[in-house]
Amino acid sequence: MSTSQNQQIQILKAASSKINEVDFDNVTFGSVFTDHLFECDYIQGAWQTPTIKPYAPFLLDPSARVFHYGQAVFEGMKAYKDTNDSIWLFRPDENYKRFNKSAVRMAMPEVPETIFMEGLNELLKLDQAWIKKGLGNSLYIRPFMIATGSGVMASPSDNYKFMILLSPAKAYYSGEVKVLIAEHYSRAANGGIGAAKAAGNYAAQFYPTSLANQAGFQQVIWTDDATHTMLEEAGTMNVFFRINDTLFTAPTSERILDGITRKSLIEIAQKEGIAVSVRPVLVSELVAAAKDGSLKEIFGAGTAAVVNPIAGFSYQEVYYELPKTENSYASLLKEKLTNIQNKLAEDSFGWTVKV
Ligand code: COI
Repeated sequence: MSTSQNQQIQILKAASSKINEVDFDNVTFGSVFTDHLFECDYIQGAWQTPTIKPYAPFLLDPSARVFHYGQAVFEGMKAYKDTNDSIWLFRPDENYKRFNKSAVRMAMPEVPETIFMEGLNELLKLDQAWIKKGLGNSLYIRPFMIATGSGVMASPSDNYKFMILLSPAKAYYSGEVKVLIAEHYSRAANGGIGAAKAAGNYAAQFYPTSLANQAGFQQVIWTDDATHTMLEEAGTMNVFFRINDTLFTAPTSERILDGITRKSLIEIAQKEGIAVSVRPVLVSELVAAAKDGSLKEIFGAGTAAVVNPIAGFSYQEVYYELPKTENSYASLLKEKLTNIQNKLAEDSFGWTVKV
């Protein structure tokens, strides 16, 4: 383990702030970054001095393994500001654990908790002016790690860079989305890296998703690679299906990301007295429920997406429009979740952590 994991963070402040150039009400998700970033290099088995410095491009050797073999993992988290200007994180320990789980799967070093958490806390304090108050506002946090070691041999790198970026965020999707159910392409397979937040899992979706976009759908709901009969996740979010008054969602697996919003919604729903069934959901039962009217809602859940209603789905060239449901589970669960995250309601689960 590192010789330097308890080192003080070195802080180099930006000469000026870009904050006044940002239109916070119209920011596109993931396109604007705060004045500073956090960085810590791992060189030949040791974590180096953690540093906060002005956000800027950096140099890498063209043979760095991340470019050739995609050795890269990331997380998605959010910070919120309450009415007293205190800053809050939502279940950061879950993101930290999942980050290192992803790192292990990709043969990368685990990031020590002090580096991850202290780096994040100090960065948030420094750039706290970028966190806007009020429901719908947040600061999206993108911790990530890349293999920086040079050489195109297909083996794990010796050197890595761990960084944290901050980006003011509103909704990921602007309104309801239409989805296509995958019949041929797959996001993940058993024994693969589907449960890791590995960069390549996202790149692998770009081509099939762009085909879906051309056909008028914003997202794909992936099905299991072996039979394409079970509904899995949507890549940017886990998915929930309401059939009659029961909420169904697929169990997490080697192929499905263990979403933190997903598991929080399951607990909130249960507390609200909603029946939740975590079990494989078949495409055939979804189609049958859409046909007989018992399918009331589909929604996605993720850190970036929060809770996003799905307007309808297409399967085998047939489009099934969902009914407009009053008192939808999606809006109830979104309200309960975001009120906890923004400290507008009591957090009886103990999920929020003050920075
Ligand atoms: C997140 O929700 O944080 C994600 O990582 C999804 C990403 C595609 C924006």
